[in-house]
Amino acid sequence: MKIAFFNTKEYDREFFDKYNEEYQFEIEYFKAELNPKTAKLAYGSEAVCAFVNDNLGDETLTELSKLGVKLVLLRCAGFNNCDLGAAKQNGLVIMRVPEYSPFAVAEHAVGLILSLSRKFHKAYNRTRDANFSLEGLMGFDLHAKTVGVIGTGKIGLILIKILNGFGVKVLAYDPYPVQDKKGLDFEYCDLKTLYVSSDIITLQCPLTKDSFHMVNSESINDMKDGVIIINTSRGALINAKDMILGLKNKKVGGLAIDVYEEESEIFFKDMSSKIIEDDTLMRLMSFPNVLVTGHQAFFTDTAMENIAKTTLANAKSFQEQNYSVGGTIV
Ligand code: NAI
Repeated sequence: MKIAFFNTKEYDREFFDKYNEEYQFEIEYFKAELNPKTAKLAYGSEAVCAFVNDNLGDETLTELSKLGVKLVLLRCAGFNNCDLGAAKQNGLVIMRVPEYSPFAVAEHAVGLILSLSRKFHKAYNRTRDANFSLEGLMGFDLHAKTVGVIGTGKIGLILIKILNGFGVKVLAYDPYPVQDKKGLDFEYCDLKTLYVSSDIITLQCPLTKDSFHMVNSESINDMKDGVIIINTSRGALINAKDMILGLKNKKVGGLAIDVYEEESEIFFKDMSSKIIEDDTLMRLMSFPNVLVTGHQAFFTDTAMENIAKTTLANAKSFQEQNYSVGGTIV
């Protein structure tokens, strides 16, 4: 089976080439992202492999289907970029990697919390310039603070397990609470209670119609003064313009984001010598208490290995008409 890989970097090729030795799929790598215009590159391929910010809307999927593509392999967990209805209409099977390393993302979220609470991002730059003064670097103990975790799925529960070690109180909100808390120490509450009571709020839920812009002026207004907000899930969970207002009026005491609503044109690329036209992102990055990582939370060696292995196993199971391996979603 021939697979056209879109939006690939050197590190994707390294891991997929290694694990494809077992499968021997014919792989063609493209740097181009997948969208209605680039879809034609998949000519002659039975499958395409796409990443988080690729365009898998109706137009792209229809184009792929016309070219004879039967399978879309998402090498990521989230599938909010994929029009599942259009996939069904076009007879395309969509497979993803539902779990490759929830530890990677949970640990990154903890790193972001600690960076903001202890200002590591400021200290790193300061000491490199031989400035060892402590003015402006005072942090706060996590111990005895309240952390609100929104979404208690795979990543949320691992995050809670780590947070339990810090001696924080953990509140959680999830429309589908887990029945078995697996010995973890946390309390479920409604969203409003979580907003009102938490010193730190961390988003570990998917982007859906219900969660779109859930962090907005109204919800920020409900939060504690000086609240710290962490988002490693999807950018559009936060209304960035409302967040700027919250940061300006000091209601929000710190923000760390690994994802951004309009990231697709910017993240995963070296923009260091380009003029970035997104004024909202640039304003966000200008605050001293805002930390941005470029959709890096998943990016560990373990995760890359699991992404490659599961994606190729998904392709194999499709080929053998046995979708039970991996994560068929359509
Ligand atoms: P999961 O599917 O195991 O858990 C998601 C949880 O969120 C579920 O328990 C679900 O009931 C809950 N949920 C759904 N709607 C909600 C809402 N409106 N409010 C609160 N909770 C809600 O997913 P997992 O693996 O824990 O991943 C969570 C998210 O993390 C993914 O959807 C993805 O967007 C993001 N992610 C980000 C990565 C990164 O590199 N930054 C890497 C992997 C995932």
